[in-house]
Amino acid sequence: MKRKKITIGLFGFGCVGSGLYEVLQLTPKLNASVKRICVKNPTKERSLPPENFIFDPSMILNDDEINVVVELIDDAEVAFEIVKAALMHGKAVVTANKKMIACHFEELLFLQHKFRVPLLYEAACCASIPVIRNLEEYYDNDLLVSVEGIVNGSTNYILSKIRKEKSTFKYALGEAQRLGFAESNPDLDIKGLDAKYKLVLLLAHAFGLVVKPGDIYNLGIDRIGNAELEYAEEKGLKIKLLAVAARNSHGNIQAFVLPAFIEPEDKLYSVEDVFNGVRIMSCFADSQFFEGRGAGSHPTASAVISDISALSYGYRYEYKKLDNDEVLQDQHSVHLKLMIRCNKEILHDVMDYFLWVDEYKLTNNEGYVIGITTLKTVSSILEQYPESSAILFDDQRDVKFPADVRLKNIAIHE
Ligand code: HSE
Repeated sequence: MKRKKITIGLFGFGCVGSGLYEVLQLTPKLNASVKRICVKNPTKERSLPPENFIFDPSMILNDDEINVVVELIDDAEVAFEIVKAALMHGKAVVTANKKMIACHFEELLFLQHKFRVPLLYEAACCASIPVIRNLEEYYDNDLLVSVEGIVNGSTNYILSKIRKEKSTFKYALGEAQRLGFAESNPDLDIKGLDAKYKLVLLLAHAFGLVVKPGDIYNLGIDRIGNAELEYAEEKGLKIKLLAVAARNSHGNIQAFVLPAFIEPEDKLYSVEDVFNGVRIMSCFADSQFFEGRGAGSHPTASAVISDISALSYGYRYEYKKLDNDEVLQDQHSVHLKLMIRCNKEILHDVMDYFLWVDEYKLTNNEGYVIGITTLKTVSSILEQYPESSAILFDDQRDVKFPADVRLKNIAIHE
């Protein structure tokens, strides 16, 4: 099959945009070239001379020779306007903007359909790992059980640095920013929002489930304290930020983002630094594992290049699973085994929220409880007690109640 010539209008020349430009120079067989680069700030110093840049988006949108718009800017709402306009102008689009896609998924589906143009976004989820296209094409059946893993490079980098080098959180975050891994608003990384946006994309391509980011619970790594880090070290566990999309025994899909204790036997245990790891479980193939760089200029650019190459052969996502009528499981019925750490004074109140308690401990000022509770309960405890934290026991995620539910003699608040 002969490749179509690709003439690119590029929006953004930051970490990924400049990386793409460099990588494109090294892949001449692609038959793709950048015709115009549109940026916001005319005075910023860049690796190319100023005459390479334009500041008016219409010079790309109205240029008939440009058949592909690559959107790599930071602001999700401005990005949406650019992508929308490009699709309306009949131009194919490649983007790495997970927030923009997750927040506007339905509109973007509609626009692709109405204007019959493709929108590809492999780089938006796990950067260099080809997970979206694999879910869309290879796992094109109804036998997927779960897709879960480490999908944010910055938080994995921070947690690795804290554990291995005893860095402070602040220093490790500064390094993640300096290396170009973190979002320009790093709260998106550390509060688990970036992971949640990626999970929205995974849910759509794994299960055909289109949800809004607000439908999914996310907790990040910013509340993790010494008690949890010490517990992990003592038990030989590691803490990783997990994004989970899994079918439950009733056939519904549960989805959440939570920090989790990971056992050494788990493949995610050895996924360190900026790397991401995604485990796909399916009925017959059992478990399969993808690992690769989850952020950074060239790794992210490599996924953008792959999408540009796919466009040159006329590829588009067909979203075949959208007719599957999947249902997102209600937070009230997602039972999880977790540790909740909180102030000493409120430990007994927090315990009252648990359906089952395995263990609890009190130290000078704080304490923790480990047991079974629901996702809804975790969310209300953490909202009520901002100084508290929660960590999932991932190996016991599919908790069933013990047969003799002789629970603590306590009230159950749900
Ligand atoms: N801030 C993101 C991360 C960039 O750290 O994973 C890649 O999506």
